[in-house]
Amino acid sequence: MRTPWSHERTLACVPEAAHSDDAIVVSGMRKVFGDFAAVDGIDFTVKKGEIFGFLGPNGSGKTTTIRMLCGVIEPTGGGARVMGYDVCSQAELVRANIGYMSQKFSLFQDLTVDENLKFYAGIYGLDARKFAERRGYILSMAGLRGREKELTGNLSVGWKQRLALGCATIHEPRLIFLDEPTSGVDPTARRHFWELLNELAADGVTLFVTTHYMDEATHCNRLAFIYRGTIIAEGTPHEIKDELSRDTILQVQVSDGEGALATIEGRPGVKEAYMQGAMLHVNVGERPEAQADLTATLGAAGFEVRGVDRVEPTLEDAFVHLVGRQGGRA
Ligand SMILES: Nc1ncnc2c1ncn2[C@@H]1O[C@H](COP(=O)(O)OP(=O)(O)OP(=O)(O)O)[C@@H](O)[C@H]1O
Ligand SMILES: [Mg+2]
Repeated sequence: MRTPWSHERTLACVPEAAHSDDAIVVSGMRKVFGDFAAVDGIDFTVKKGEIFGFLGPNGSGKTTTIRMLCGVIEPTGGGARVMGYDVCSQAELVRANIGYMSQKFSLFQDLTVDENLKFYAGIYGLDARKFAERRGYILSMAGLRGREKELTGNLSVGWKQRLALGCATIHEPRLIFLDEPTSGVDPTARRHFWELLNELAADGVTLFVTTHYMDEATHCNRLAFIYRGTIIAEGTPHEIKDELSRDTILQVQVSDGEGALATIEGRPGVKEAYMQGAMLHVNVGERPEAQADLTATLGAAGFEVRGVDRVEPTLEDAFVHLVGRQGGRA
């Protein structure tokens, strides 16, 4: 199997470069594949010790950005400094100073838990004493004690996820990139995983996390939202939700949400309408009185309206709004 770090040499830990409060500084970074710009000139800064959420729909450029920041692929234009190192000219130093947990968990399925840890320890050049110390810590942290000899392929997704985090942090990096670390994992395992991430953050480790789950985004200190290769919003979860501070969001409980959505989309007074889980959400802008029109319209069209309530905007509401402003659909 190829790992993200298919190197002949080990990535022996070296100290990070210049002291600065910034873990990541990105300026004008682009990546073009053929004539398609997957990442189209992005700028942002991540402070040391932050949990930074990088959100965006499928294909928006999240993994491509992470791969450039990890020194795995070179930007076509612009650049970035990661832990003080230049991602183009000092890619190996970048890699030695970060941890990376990929979307697909880079684990050997046919090796045991212990063997996977040993493999990653070898990549980072840990000596036997350091490996013993880190192995003990990771087995406890991940709750994997007693499973050391189990084949990785036989572990549930939740255990694999924690093992992957262990492998990504075997060399005690101060910055970790996590690309959709919780996709495909049940809510209990996701919660447990976020507890681990919060523990790392409490130790001052910087976390750069991509996720599709909006509830996870609220765990982040700051967020950037990427859409079609461009950053369309950046700020704390509170600041991003503030985009909707003047709008009224109505949550509609109705017999057939999708049908009701098709009926009201584009009607006068309906700024945005979309399903959020099983609920229909309608942004009626600065016209709270539209609530009565909505109930009447749906009732007349034969829908059973069980309730229309004004709700506080969620991050998901804010992102639908931001994407809509770009002329797209979230
Ligand atoms: N090596 C490549 N060659 C050509 N196109 C690529 C390559 N890697 C990514 N792309 C394209 O670039 C765009 C961004 O891909 P990327 O994987 O960064 O998105 P993403 O935001 O991580 O999506 P997802 O949520 O599905 O993981 C997509 O359209 C993808 O098809
Ligand atoms: Mg991706």
